[in-house]
Amino acid sequence: MNFEMESLKIDQEAFFREKWSVSQSDVLRMGIENYFDNWASPPGFDFDYDTSAVFSQYNPGQTLFDKMRDMPLKDKVFVDVGCGTGRSCVPFIQYGVHMDGVDISNEMLKRAKERGYGRLIQRDLAMDCFDDLSEQYDGMISIGVLGEWLPPRVLPRFLDMLSNNSTVAIAADLNERDNNICLGLLEERGFEIVSNFKDFSYFRGRVSVDYFYTIAER
Ligand SMILES: C[S@@+](CC[C@H](N)C(=O)[O-])C[C@H]1O[C@@H](n2cnc3c(N)ncnc32)[C@H](O)[C@@H]1O
Repeated sequence: MNFEMESLKIDQEAFFREKWSVSQSDVLRMGIENYFDNWASPPGFDFDYDTSAVFSQYNPGQTLFDKMRDMPLKDKVFVDVGCGTGRSCVPFIQYGVHMDGVDISNEMLKRAKERGYGRLIQRDLAMDCFDDLSEQYDGMISIGVLGEWLPPRVLPRFLDMLSNNSTVAIAADLNERDNNICLGLLEERGFEIVSNFKDFSYFRGRVSVDYFYTIAER
């Protein structure tokens, strides 16, 4: 691991505590990997990740796909960063995008495999080295990860996986300031912002939550 990677190590639990203003929660008690393993397939309980996504009408993948369907995506090789069960990228896979997935949770990755993902890469985005994936992909999708689970400064680690001509699609729970940080990081790395807008992402209880959506190309 080189010096730059060392300096990108992130205390994800501290980030989570500050973001959600909590000192106690299932996430902190169980640790992030266990928490998501458990949510992918909860033992003896069927209210799993996919069921709760249906319940809260969580469908940002469809919103991104609707904006991108006129782009030349067919046969491109994309990586879904923080792919979870792969639910969000089904429209892209059905359209003919080859999708690999990175996630900390093996249980989440198993579900993504069932949905047609290619390579599944179990990695901790807060800590691990991604040198082996450098410039491998034509595009990247990341939904519900930045701002919610990891701070925006981790984005360059995702972008390093992309080739010179590539596409980025992000849907994330960001405030105005963090959205601008993401846009700046994309522009610094030569991306042109095709689209950046705020739209519905899901219901938390009865409250509608918006995400920032970004599509960029270089
Ligand atoms: C809200 S879910 C979103 C999943 C998926 N993208 C979707 O749209 O349904 C957040 C995902 O980020 C993953 N994640 C959180 N922290 C991570 C980390 N440090 N490294 C890798 N994946 C992480 C979780 O395992 C989980 O699958």
